[in-house]
Amino acid sequence: MDIQRVGIVGCGLMGSGIAQCAAEAGCQVWVKEAEESFLAKGLARIHGAWDRAVAKGKVTEGQRSAWQKNLQGTLSFATLADCDLVVEAIPERLDLKLQTFAELDRILGPAAILCTNTSSLSVAQIGPVLEPTRLGRFAGLHFFNPVPVMPLVEIIRTLATTEETLAALRGFVQGLGKTAVMAPDAPGFVVNRLLVPYLLDAIRCAEQRLATPEDIDAAMKLGCGHPMGPLHLSDFIGLDTMQSVAEVLFDAFGEPRFKAPSLLRQLVASGRLGRKTGSGFYRWEGEKRLEALSL
Ligand code: CAA
Repeated sequence: MDIQRVGIVGCGLMGSGIAQCAAEAGCQVWVKEAEESFLAKGLARIHGAWDRAVAKGKVTEGQRSAWQKNLQGTLSFATLADCDLVVEAIPERLDLKLQTFAELDRILGPAAILCTNTSSLSVAQIGPVLEPTRLGRFAGLHFFNPVPVMPLVEIIRTLATTEETLAALRGFVQGLGKTAVMAPDAPGFVVNRLLVPYLLDAIRCAEQRLATPEDIDAAMKLGCGHPMGPLHLSDFIGLDTMQSVAEVLFDAFGEPRFKAPSLLRQLVASGRLGRKTGSGFYRWEGEKRLEALSL
């Protein structure tokens, strides 16, 4: 199956990144949001990225205008009716996801593939709201932040996902210029199961004053060649997201290494959520990390 028409539900950081990549890959993309202001913000993020790419001389004006033509916003599920693939990228609330998938299943054609970009919920848990005939064409498609840059996508199959669907998704991911790995439908899939305990351990090191946040980050960046240190990366991901992913993993496995440290909970409770609120372990000005804040 050749995926050409793609719907993305949710135009936040992840949804807009997926929409951007699909439009750049030549797909016809409709991105759906619940409110005009969210849609405008998400589309502005994508157009801003394309404008910066033109300004840097990485992309021609002609290329940008072709990409712009490939991308449209909508507030209505009905606009997605002709899509070959719809990827859901809304907040990590099961109730919202179930409503969204029930609606998508109702309006989409029988051959369409439905995917969730959830990073922590069970993919199979969404299945019961789908018609039994759709279950073979339902899977997880998990992207990484920042989506336009990160080359990995985890494909998560349920017991019902067909080989044909997996082949179509692998082809789609390859068309985006990214690499797919098959991941189990188990909490954290592959990447978060390994990454989250490491990040939580770094937060425990900061909590125990083992070293300053800057030194913890410098140690892992320079000592291990990571692009960002673990506290910097936690701010980048969002400390509220980190806490909710840790809770899901701890509920599932009950191992202390998945438990959210009390420092993480305190930062979240005081509104220091990382880059998106301008403060977390560090102070932030937009994308720019400034000095470490007191703990
Ligand atoms: N969106 C789009 N593009 C971005 C970007 C963003 N947020 N941040 C950087 N870029 C682009 C830049 O424009 C630049 O592009 P060009 O080369 O075309 O100019 C390129 O990325 C490199 O950027 P920089 O030189 O500014 O910075 P860098 O070399 O430090 O790279 C980074 C930035 C790619 C974010 C890098 O620091 C990195 O890989 N960090 C780790 C990110 C990571 O681990 N992500 C996974 C998070 S976990 C997750 O997502 C799972 C989950 O479910 C929670």
